Amino acid sequence: TIACESSIGTWTDIKTLSRSIIRKLKPHVFSINQNTNIIKIAYPINLFERGNIPQLLSSIAGNIFGMKILKSLRLEDIKFPPTYTSAFKGPKYGVRGVRNLLRIRERPILGTIVKPKLGLSAKQHAKVAYNAWVGGIDAVKDDENLTSMAFNHFKDRVAATLSKRDKAEKKTGEKKVYFPNVTAETGEMIRRAEYVRRLGGEYIMVDIITCGWSSVQALRDAELGLIIHAHRAGHGLFTELREQGMSMLVVAKLARLVGVDQLHVGAIVGKMKGGAREVEHIGEEITDAFVKSSDSDHILAQNWKGIEPVFPVCSGGLHPGLVGSLMKHMGHDIIIQAGGGIHGHPDGTTSGARAMRQ
Ligand code: 3PG
Ligand code: MG
Repeated sequence: TIACESSIGTWTDIKTLSRSIIRKLKPHVFSINQNTNIIKIAYPINLFERGNIPQLLSSIAGNIFGMKILKSLRLEDIKFPPTYTSAFKGPKYGVRGVRNLLRIRERPILGTIVKPKLGLSAKQHAKVAYNAWVGGIDAVKDDENLTSMAFNHFKDRVAATLSKRDKAEKKTGEKKVYFPNVTAETGEMIRRAEYVRRLGGEYIMVDIITCGWSSVQALRDAELGLIIHAHRAGHGLFTELREQGMSMLVVAKLARLVGVDQLHVGAIVGKMKGGAREVEHIGEEITDAFVKSSDSDHILAQNWKGIEPVFPVCSGGLHPGLVGSLMKHMGHDIIIQAGGGIHGHPDGTTSGARAMRQ
């Protein structure tokens, strides 16, 4: 039923479905494991429009998820052949581009989220950002629900914060970056991104789940020359239940295809759900669809022909005391972000940032 409804079939035999259509487009259920309840289905590539994630999901993550015949269903993984992935741009910058811009070769990139999430004025926001940068943080980001608010307009905030970025760079002699949250209706989002670029920003951030795949792809395809930081707020709506929904692994793969440069993947030791197995590996077990490079360790970094690796971002409940154990799990090629873990320092943001850098 799953294979049928997600490809060419429906609940009953239909007179309009010819043998030749079946021959060309029928899917193959090639593995059913009755112990694990994992089933694997191979679909002919022509069932899918290249470059169209909504169409992919309307097929294999569409009607089938609401059918009475199934008690529960979870999409654990998708393997794509290169003929499918080659239609996507993937990240413009990825790990390499970010490290080049920041001129940081080995250590993790350090970021903070300005806190409180909402409530500061544009000026106050910029001041907190400055305090974090001069304490030793590389990147400052808006929080996921901070967009253009009555008390803190997007344009005011971006102008004030980028000007503080310039000051922090002068003071520290280090490259500093700011990720303004452009999350909004797609056209407005692209206009906000253009504004960031006009003011000399190098980055934008976007909430990929709440904006939706085609919207994020439009942002990438606008070719604005900006690095795209992807926040995954809301993924838990469909990734958290063991027996229903879609895995974070699938979300990560789709994000890489549409072309975000860095992606929140979880922090294992922090406040968000997502254990070591899931996060370390967003993920390693199912890799053979791509030409696998010998150095591939996680899905975001695997060698996907022509598609740059995405920088994994660990964020949520982190503080300096957790950096060691986080790096034991994730290695050094990560972006580590702390909000409360920096602004909660008893001596304030700059001391929190210094502690994090140490
Ligand atoms: C995020 O957007 O990743 C969170 O705001 C992290 O905040 P925290 O470090 O205070 O948990
Ligand atoms: Mg947040």
